[in-house]
Formats: sequence, C-alpha cells, structure tokens
Amino acid sequence: MNYTRKQVIAGNWKMYKTQAEAKSFLLKFLPQLHGDRVLWLDEQQRAHLPDIVICAPFTKLQFLAETLVLSPQNLHLGAQNIHWADEGPFTGEISGQMLNEYNVRYVIVGHSERRHYFCDTDETVRKRLRAAQSHNITPILCVGETKLQRESGLAEEVLTSQLTNSLEGIDTDNLVIAYEPIWAIGTGDTCAAEEANRMLKHIRGVLKSDRVSLLYGGSVKPENIDELMTQPEIDGVLVGGASLDPDSFAKIVNFHLP
Ligand code: PGA
Repeated sequence: MNYTRKQVIAGNWKMYKTQAEAKSFLLKFLPQLHGDRVLWLDEQQRAHLPDIVICAPFTKLQFLAETLVLSPQNLHLGAQNIHWADEGPFTGEISGQMLNEYNVRYVIVGHSERRHYFCDTDETVRKRLRAAQSHNITPILCVGETKLQRESGLAEEVLTSQLTNSLEGIDTDNLVIAYEPIWAIGTGDTCAAEEANRMLKHIRGVLKSDRVSLLYGGSVKPENIDELMTQPEIDGVLVGGASLDPDSFAKIVNFHLP
C-alpha cells in the first residue's frame, strides 16, 4: 500500500438509481463497509484507509448527504458535474455553492461521456476544475483515448494534450486524475493492469508531481481490483457499472482488508 498519496475508490452512478434504489443499495452496502475486519488493522493502516466516494445524480445528493453523515468517516459524497459560475442562467447545470450545501467532497470533471454527449472541451473542463477547487471540492479529472487513437499510436499524445490544455493554472495539490481509456468504459474490456500503470506513469511525467492521486477507470470489477491495486502508480479506481451493485462495490472498496 502506498502511504504517500491518498487512495481513492470512487463509484460513478451516472444516470442510474431512483431514490428507492439508492436506499436499498445503502441498506446492503453500508453494513459491508470495513465490517469487523477493520479491527485487525494497525493504527497506521486505519489512518490511511482509502477515501470511498459515491458520485451520485443530483437528486440523490440530499438523501446521501443525510445518510453519509452517520457513516464511516472515509465515505464521501461526490457529484458528476459542476458549473464555473456560482449562479446564473445556465439551465441544467449545478454550481459549486449548491454542491457545498450537501458537503460534496469530490466531483467528476471531463468524463468522456460529458465530453462526447455534452460537448465538454478542455476549456470548459479547465473552468469546471477551477470552480471545484475554489469551492474546496476535489475534482476527479478524467482523461483517456479512444480505440482508434490507441490503434494509431496516439494514446500518450492525447493524454498529454488533454492534461496540458485543461490543467493550466490548476492547483495540483487538490486534484485527482483518472485515466479512463474510452474503449474500456462499460465494455467489460479492462485495460491490462501493467498497461494502465504505464499510462499513469506517463500522466505523472506530464504533471511533474508525485503527490497527485492517480486512478484507473474502465470495467473495474471485484475480479480485477486486486491486480490493479498492486500496480505502483495506481492509487485507486473510478468504477461505473460495478458501483451500482452493493455487493460488487463493497468487494471493490474492501480490497485492502485482510
Ligand atoms: P465502467 O465505467 O466501470 O462501467 O466501465 C467507468 C466510468 O465511466 O467511470
């Protein structure tokens, strides 16, 4: 376990779960969180438990905020978008001050689905990153290449360009980056652990920082979490599909327990 950087295991619920479904998820998920096995950890291990994050749709934020207050300290609320203005005529968007009302600690920015379907660009991503940091919310910046870009040998170049264009003026002390190859998202086709590690090493080289937590995302599941987390550059994961199922997500967040 790497103790120098924060480990983060984040679930991205995307546009899934009604209120009733979120409640039944928590009823099954919360009792599995750490459980009695935490008792076997030493002091240092407990202090470095990973941050567990649920990035929920906006309509679940209030309910989850109220519920998570009573949950273990390392379970946090995340959002899936943030606008750069505090308020204004921006139909369908949400602001940092609104997210602050629910004690949202993390926000996903620049997810490939936002870039693809909702026209997020490196420029808007940069503005969202800045807004998150100015509201003391840690952005999880997603970067990643398409299958075609990978096959054309452009994967590293794409990451370098996404990072340099969106990180200008951004404080790397309050930032998490998720490498999410687009061809691995929702496809079951996970990037091999060593290759994910190699790409994260590339990201770290571009950042020139040893302190930013780097995540891998794309078809993470209970079956591959252990292998992914043994890689030296992988500080955590961003989980889509498998975070919707309480048993799967519990197995993923408990990867570090004996
Ligand atoms: P997946 O999604 O785990 O279902 O591949 C990951 C993501 O979109 O963040």
